[in-house]
Amino acid sequence: MRFEGKRVVVTGGASGIGKATVEAFIAEGAQVMMGDLNAEAGDALAAESRFDNRLAFQTTDVCDVGDIRSLIDNAAGHFGGVDILFNNAGAGGAQERIDEITAEDWDMTMNLLLRSVAMGTRYVVDHMKQAGGGVIINTSSINAHEAGWGPIAYATAKAGVRHLSKLSAAQLAQHNIRVNSISPGFIMTNIFADSRKDEPEEARRIDEAIHAISPMAQPVARSGMPDDIAQAVLYLASDQGGFVNGIDLTVDGGITIGHRHSWDPNTPGLLELIMPEEGSS
Ligand code: NAI
Repeated sequence: MRFEGKRVVVTGGASGIGKATVEAFIAEGAQVMMGDLNAEAGDALAAESRFDNRLAFQTTDVCDVGDIRSLIDNAAGHFGGVDILFNNAGAGGAQERIDEITAEDWDMTMNLLLRSVAMGTRYVVDHMKQAGGGVIINTSSINAHEAGWGPIAYATAKAGVRHLSKLSAAQLAQHNIRVNSISPGFIMTNIFADSRKDEPEEARRIDEAIHAISPMAQPVARSGMPDDIAQAVLYLASDQGGFVNGIDLTVDGGITIGHRHSWDPNTPGLLELIMPEEGSS
């Protein structure tokens, strides 16, 4: 029960990584205020008896700064303060390439994925100062590390989240507030199929394909699950992570370790193809 008495705010808590993190915090004794755009799923989750009234929900659009501020202030009012904030809500954003994207789509994606994290941090700090300190964890992505995993606006926003977390850690250390980010790899959530939610068959096909392919695509040969990220969030938020500040924790089953031949004995590397004896020695 590492989080007994702790007051936690989670955005995007109605699904996927956010939902698993809400469950994990409550299982370890925390009280949680969850914000999400999906009011139906949020209300249903908060009403579940297993949470024993330790979960509250407020409909929140993280693109709306007023909504973010209201979520955090209401959490502080409800619980008497805020100790931990998980800035996590997100979606794929604009899909266009750099030679096609409009300014409106760019701004929409930045507001959803980057401004939301900055403003969540902005408005929780006063409450954390009152509490004598706190912990902020932000969801970045392997898109912040390498090209090739997602759309350019999404990847740029997530790189912003990673750096924003580090700079926030530097500025907030004097207030006993730690800030870190997490970069998940492929995690089995609704995020991939969500863009096709109007085409249920296609959404189902995408989910099945990701489940089938991801164990083969990375050194850890199984699908990444929301709880893999939740446990990393809890570590960073806990006293055990008390000396960890300003880092990005990659939780990706090793998918960004390097070229496939470095971890898959069945895949020859370039050197092995050119010079079989030297390459294999
Ligand atoms: P998900 O789709 O299961 O959950 C996202 C939640 O955010 C949903 O409940 C959705 O309603 C909520 N949301 C979306 N837009 C919102 C808004 N404007 N205001 C408030 N809530 C909003 O997806 P997942 O995967 O759990 O995503 C969580 C975070 O993890 C996102 O920031 C995503 O970019 C990030 N991520 C996910 C990865 C994955 O492989 N699933 C990989 C790397 C990062």
